Amino acid sequence: MIRTAFFTVITVLFFFVLWFHNPFVAHESYKVPAEHMKIIEDYGRYAKEGKQLFEQNCQSCHSVRYDAVYPASIQANPNLKALQEKYGKVLPRDVYEATFYSDLMALKESFGKVPPDLSTMYIARGPEYLYNFILEPQKVLPGTSMPPVMTGRPEETAKIVAYLRSVSEPDPAEKNKRALMGVFTIGYLILMGLLLWIWRKKLLEKMGLH
Ligand code: HEC
Repeated sequence: MIRTAFFTVITVLFFFVLWFHNPFVAHESYKVPAEHMKIIEDYGRYAKEGKQLFEQNCQSCHSVRYDAVYPASIQANPNLKALQEKYGKVLPRDVYEATFYSDLMALKESFGKVPPDLSTMYIARGPEYLYNFILEPQKVLPGTSMPPVMTGRPEETAKIVAYLRSVSEPDPAEKNKRALMGVFTIGYLILMGLLLWIWRKKLLEKMGLH
């Protein structure tokens, strides 16, 4: 019994750590003012506005491939439409990189590296880092070639982060499904642990060892 309880606690603890305080996710010390954090948390409401701001301020360099948003030079490339008819709006990465190689290299030529695709940047960096980096790139990443396009516009910056979040997060139905799946998995493990323990006890009794 003690052993079962022990393993149950360990299992639950393991998933708790992964979900609520994942040590593999960077816990940055960057701050976001409360009123702007609200915008990022309410991302469903601000995503559309954020996307427009992104198109105006960021799309000259960056793509958000998961949302079929490509850098301005590529957006203007006549090949894009034909490819999208063939592969769908969101192009496979290899097709995208091979076809627009020279456009991407032109960006690299200008900035020292290809400005990264921002589809999953929210997951990789989190809201605090993104908000501060976009607002003042030099402060967060000294020497970066990313220009300070949003400096002095914190609210609009928060809306852009909200947009990036909306792209990187699965929609709410999918999220609920995943949460439910997690609960089922833990429930299953606990149940199996209990059944095994009962079975073991029965076996021991049968063998006259109990
Ligand atoms: C003139 C080109 C240009 C524009 C405009 C631009 N960026 Fe960038 N951005 C870059 C480059 C180049 C890098 C790579 C910088 C580096 O690694 O030093 C970068 C990097 C980034 C990163 C990754 C930072 C990291 O830690 O790796 C984010 C996020 C980002 N940009 C967001 C934005 C957003 C949001 C906008 C619009 C408000 C924007 N950028 C506008 C060129 C640009």
